Amino acid sequence: MGKLEKRSWRNLFIDLKNDPERKSFLKMIGEVLYLSILHKGFPRHYFSRFLFKKDRTNIGDFFPDNFLYYKLKPFLNNKHVNEVLENKLFFNFYYSQFDISLPEIVMFNHKKMFVAGTKCSEVNNVNELKILLEELFNNNPDCNSLIIKKTYWSYGGDKIYKFYRDEINTKAENIAELYNEVIKAGFLFQKTIKQNEQLNKLNSSSINTIRFDTFNDATGKIDIMSGYLRMSVGDTYVDNISSGGCMVGIDLETGKLKKNAYRTFRYYGVKILTEHPATKTKFENFTIPFFDQAKELVKKTAGLMPDLRLTGWDVAIGESGPILVEGNSDYDLSGNDLNFGGYRSNPVFRKMLHELHYL
Ligand SMILES: Nc1ncnc2c1ncn2[C@@H]1O[C@H](COP(=O)(O)OP(=O)(O)O)[C@@H](O)[C@H]1O
Ligand SMILES: [Mg+2]
Repeated sequence: MGKLEKRSWRNLFIDLKNDPERKSFLKMIGEVLYLSILHKGFPRHYFSRFLFKKDRTNIGDFFPDNFLYYKLKPFLNNKHVNEVLENKLFFNFYYSQFDISLPEIVMFNHKKMFVAGTKCSEVNNVNELKILLEELFNNNPDCNSLIIKKTYWSYGGDKIYKFYRDEINTKAENIAELYNEVIKAGFLFQKTIKQNEQLNKLNSSSINTIRFDTFNDATGKIDIMSGYLRMSVGDTYVDNISSGGCMVGIDLETGKLKKNAYRTFRYYGVKILTEHPATKTKFENFTIPFFDQAKELVKKTAGLMPDLRLTGWDVAIGESGPILVEGNSDYDLSGNDLNFGGYRSNPVFRKMLHELHYL
């Protein structure tokens, strides 16, 4: 995945100047000053949460990134157990004990050592990897492509590769590239999830996952704070926002999408999407299939890791139900703040602020 280019401040300013949906400059200056005093610092989130748009009236409900990043998770998540979520192999091992649907791992490696099922082998060159991949596809006739991802400490869709069955004989250079990458560290080889047809109508380039965040309160009650759907834009096969994807809030009660989707302001500027650029499918009122089951799933997974009290979960919707792609103990709450429409008005978030004595 190539690194995205940040736009220059000059271009962002021109973009803002020409935005017909923005507030007047005078009003914007007043609001920036107000938020600077409220949050004791320059409110960068005035831009990243699109608070300069005319329809944003509750600007005080949104939180600066620094607060969301540094003032919550360190007090709620026990760093000694982070590993269960941050190491994707450990994650799979732990959560597969509890009748939870997960992406299927068909092989994993640590540097030269490869494990596929019960077979362990040492891979010393590109050709040996090619033979292993051939065997994998032969043993899994239903699988036409693999998602290969770094086992630990990777995020944002970085270091994720997609490898198709027919590349084995046609794209020797791709196997060589894969070999050079995976041999450096630990990687998981997963079957590509088959996405529910409904979600393909929005975007079929990637698996479009729901990012839920959950809070486990002092009494052990688990609540979902909010959820939003992420989709790639273009032909990228990962949906992460930091890899160029877009995101749209979900009404937790009905499982329907909200109207507006956002991309990263710093990369893409002021534009808000109301339909997916690839399929032209409108977001507003689009119903996510198996939404109730998806909510049940994350409540269950959050309950299984009570020492991580504030967590973000990535859930795909497969052909016959939700699939837990990963959990994040160190997730970025700014996406939830943005798509919910200001976390200060979120009842579960407020409960958490209260427990931490911020309210
Ligand atoms: N097994 C899979 N099949 C299809 N797509 C996948 C699979 N695993 C991950 N993806 C895509 O890649 C994205 C990032 O994967 P994830 O495991 O969450 O890694 P990261 O830690 O980088 O976010 C997912 O949100 C999804 O769009
Ligand atoms: Mg993820």
